[in-house]
Amino acid sequence: MKPIEWQGNRLKIIDQTQLPGKLVFAELCSYTEVVAAIKEMKVRGAPAIGVAAAYGIALGAQNIKAENKAKFVSQFDRILQSFAAARPTAVNLFRAIDRMKKVAEPTDDFAKIKQALIDEAKAIHANEEDATERLSWLGAELIEDGSTILTHCNAGPLATAGYGTALGVIKAAAEQGKKIEVIATETRPLLQGAHLTAWELMQDNIPVTLITDSMAGYFLSRSKVNCVIVGADRIAANGDTANKIGTYTLAILAKENGVPFYVAAPTSTIDLSLKSGDQIPIEERNPEEVTNIGGIRLAPKGVKAANPAFDITPHKYITAIITEKDIVRKPYLRRLKQLVGR
Ligand code: MRU
Repeated sequence: MKPIEWQGNRLKIIDQTQLPGKLVFAELCSYTEVVAAIKEMKVRGAPAIGVAAAYGIALGAQNIKAENKAKFVSQFDRILQSFAAARPTAVNLFRAIDRMKKVAEPTDDFAKIKQALIDEAKAIHANEEDATERLSWLGAELIEDGSTILTHCNAGPLATAGYGTALGVIKAAAEQGKKIEVIATETRPLLQGAHLTAWELMQDNIPVTLITDSMAGYFLSRSKVNCVIVGADRIAANGDTANKIGTYTLAILAKENGVPFYVAAPTSTIDLSLKSGDQIPIEERNPEEVTNIGGIRLAPKGVKAANPAFDITPHKYITAIITEKDIVRKPYLRRLKQLVGR
């Protein structure tokens, strides 16, 4: 079951908003449908957003009809801009856009460009598949037999179009024969933990217990958790990490209770152009996601609600960052630079 699949002239995705109730595949036939799917979170999770955008850009380019390169470039730029405006935090999206843009530059032969864009999107997808699998097996070395691992949001195959990041590490440890238990936070407001993480772990027969976000302190303080592992949407040069709202709270709780806190992400999620986490753009989403659950309004009409989708975990709370190249520990500034340059 592939969360994202290129089908020659369209993109087939699992519509993540329908899980776990229904396994629905959406066929996206235009780039605007791919942009909408990213905005509506039918496809979500940093690496998966980058992969979907790459295919969406290739799809959009196939329909460009232009008499000269300047006109081609202007239509192509409009496509790139639509994707850049879809979601601001996951850097994988912008990395994919940059790679696709570079492919279109060197030649005036549109047929060649169109084919090269499809090839590049496939390469980006293959890179993420490869990176997430590698980092998962590297990270699994950190997990002791008999561990209980707490995770937040969803960082499995659905979120990566690959093996997974935080859930990839958990899956690899389980495949090594270690006895693993997972505590998954439900992850309000959109409940990716309840809808997706619980579903993915159950598909893999990995024992999982669902908790509300506010129960995390209880479990961490009662020595019921051996480590916390989360994914990332963007990691700044100093190791500060943007991930789903609530991650920062978990990191402090982990530190306070002496529990290791790991971030698992491919190097495509590292953004060395930003010195620290306060420069990472944080997506603000519709407040209705907070006032409503599953389309049902629970808060009083007219109440003000805030909905930042991500927060920043300062690097001092992160025990290690697990990437496909290596497991990096402090000092992150020097080590992340060395790693990305490698
Ligand atoms: O808003 P989402 O669901 O796209 O946020 C996803 C996360 O925060 C994930 O933890 C992150 O993208 C890592 S996915 C491997």
